Amino acid sequence: MLTAYDYPTAQLIDRAGIDVILVGDSLGMVVLGYEDTLAVTLDDIIYHSKAVARGVKESLVVSDMPFMSYKIDDISKTVQNAGRIIKETGVGAVKLEGGSEISEEVKAVVQAGIPVMGHLGLTPQSVNQFGGFKVQAREVEARKKLLEDVLVLEKAGVFAVVLECIPADLAKEVTERISIPTIGIGAGNACDGQVLVTQDMLGLFSNFRPKFVRRYAELDTDISLAISKYKNDVKQGEFPKVEESF
Ligand code: KIV
Ligand code: NA
Repeated sequence: MLTAYDYPTAQLIDRAGIDVILVGDSLGMVVLGYEDTLAVTLDDIIYHSKAVARGVKESLVVSDMPFMSYKIDDISKTVQNAGRIIKETGVGAVKLEGGSEISEEVKAVVQAGIPVMGHLGLTPQSVNQFGGFKVQAREVEARKKLLEDVLVLEKAGVFAVVLECIPADLAKEVTERISIPTIGIGAGNACDGQVLVTQDMLGLFSNFRPKFVRRYAELDTDISLAISKYKNDVKQGEFPKVEESF
C-alpha cells in the first residue's frame, strides 16, 4: 500500500501493481503544510480522492475519514460522512483510526455497505493525547489493549488493519491472532503487507524523517537541481533555443 493525493501519482502507483492506494490524511502534512493531520477536512479528502480515483484502474483506493468526521456522538453522521466519500469520489473503502471506542461506528458504516479498514497503534489524529508522534503499545497493559482492540475491530467487520509504530513482536502476534490482513508502518516485517507515505519514500518530504521510512529516491534533490538549471538557462539566454521556438 502507498499513499497518493493526485492523478499522476495515482497512475504511477496503479500501473506498478500496488494492491491498495491510500488517500490518507497525511495529506495535511506532506502536501498541505500543516503540522499534523487534524486540520484536514472531509472536503479536502473528497477533492483529493476524486483526483486519485481518476488515475486508478486496478488498485483498491481507500480514503481516510478525517478528524471529527467520525468518533462523534452521532453515529448517523459518521455513516453520512463515509457515504459522501464513497458516493462523491468512487473510492472503494474508508479507513478509521481507533479501537473499541469506534466499534459501533465501524459496524454502522459496514452495515451501510461500505468496507472499512482499521488503524491502530500510533493513530496520528490522537497526537495531542499521545503527546507527540511516538512508538505505542510498549508496556504490557497497552499491548493487551491493542490486542483487544484489534479483535473488536475484526468482529465489527473491518477487512484489514493498519498497525502504525508498534513493536515488531506485537505486530507479529496480532498478525497471527487475526484472520484479516495487517498492514504495517513502523511495525516490523511480520505484517501481511506494508504501507509508506509516498512523499516520504520518494524524498519529497523532509520536515521530519522517522526511522521506519526507507528512501527509495531523493526527488527533493532532483527537483531542486532541475529548478536551478532552468533558472540559470533562462538568465543566460540559453532557454528557449531556436528549436524550442515557433
Ligand atoms: O494518512 C496516512 O498516510 C496513513 C498511513 C500512514 C497509514 O494513515
Ligand atoms: Na492517516
